[in-house]
Amino acid sequence: MGFPNTRMRRLRTTPTMRRLVRETTVTVDDLVYPMFVCPGENIKQPIPSLRDCFHFSPDRIAAETAEIAALGIPAVLLFGLPKTKDARGSEAWAADSAVAQAIRAIKKANPELLVITDVCLCAYTDHGHCGVIRNNRIDNDASCGLLAQMALAHARAGADIVAPSDMMDGRIGVIRRALDEEGFTETAILSYAAKYASAFYGPFRDAAHSAPGFGDRKGYQMDPAAARQAICEIELDIEEGADLVMVKPALHYLDIILTARARFEIPIAAYHVSGEYMMLHAAADAGYLDRDAATMETLTAIKRAGADIILTYSAKDAVRILRS
Ligand code: PBG
Repeated sequence: MGFPNTRMRRLRTTPTMRRLVRETTVTVDDLVYPMFVCPGENIKQPIPSLRDCFHFSPDRIAAETAEIAALGIPAVLLFGLPKTKDARGSEAWAADSAVAQAIRAIKKANPELLVITDVCLCAYTDHGHCGVIRNNRIDNDASCGLLAQMALAHARAGADIVAPSDMMDGRIGVIRRALDEEGFTETAILSYAAKYASAFYGPFRDAAHSAPGFGDRKGYQMDPAAARQAICEIELDIEEGADLVMVKPALHYLDIILTARARFEIPIAAYHVSGEYMMLHAAADAGYLDRDAATMETLTAIKRAGADIILTYSAKDAVRILRS
């Protein structure tokens, strides 16, 4: 029954025909927009390493999130910068941290917009690691306790979802218990479950001032060459109480998304990270890529692999393109 009876091109003849047989659709409902909050007042400062992204002070962020809500984007992901850094990252769980203030301002102005917060110490510690250090090593269990305090501070400020990105073992369970003990049984946890030690976080670390002061993150983030560990990581986080899990980065880890989708029933998020985003823009700026087409092809590929949710700095662009 091959050619000439079978002609695959029949289903590609017109835009309507292609639309009818299409399997994957990226919609605004899939998108989460990451944002950066800094201490201070009246600040909206472009981030040099991240095109079209800004540092916002808490008093300026609600105006911006009103635009996000108006576009129909369901959620923002907040990253915070501290006034001062120390060895333990204590500002991470301060009730008046820039992030806590921003959460309160956003939920007051746009109650229906979901606020997800990144829970990690790296932007708050003076050494830039995602946990606390003892004898030149990251102290896993002590770090979990501090991360739980940070998650609690965000929940108290009104965060809908807390998203631990540190990769300590056992932190989902510790955070879940801490939230429940204080009555935050409805605060959800989005676990950065399969997070790889990737070179593609470079522009983000400039934006969050969170590059490690010594060494690297390979002792806690996953080895890019290990696929099966991702399944164990996700399984453990679900057992510990994660409501949603994430694969990160997205583009170079589509196989991990595909495998996770086949294995697990809970929502899977994928983070289209800073380096992936800037790579696309650098190529578009140089005239090598069509910016909008490459953006949508990228997001479609991540969705096609099995992601239900895509965290991306391209979220606003994507809505504009989808509406055009
Ligand atoms: C914090 C964190 C990082 C990212 C999200 N949360 C950086 C890192 O782990 O070094 C990266 C996001 C991006 O590159 O867009 N641990």
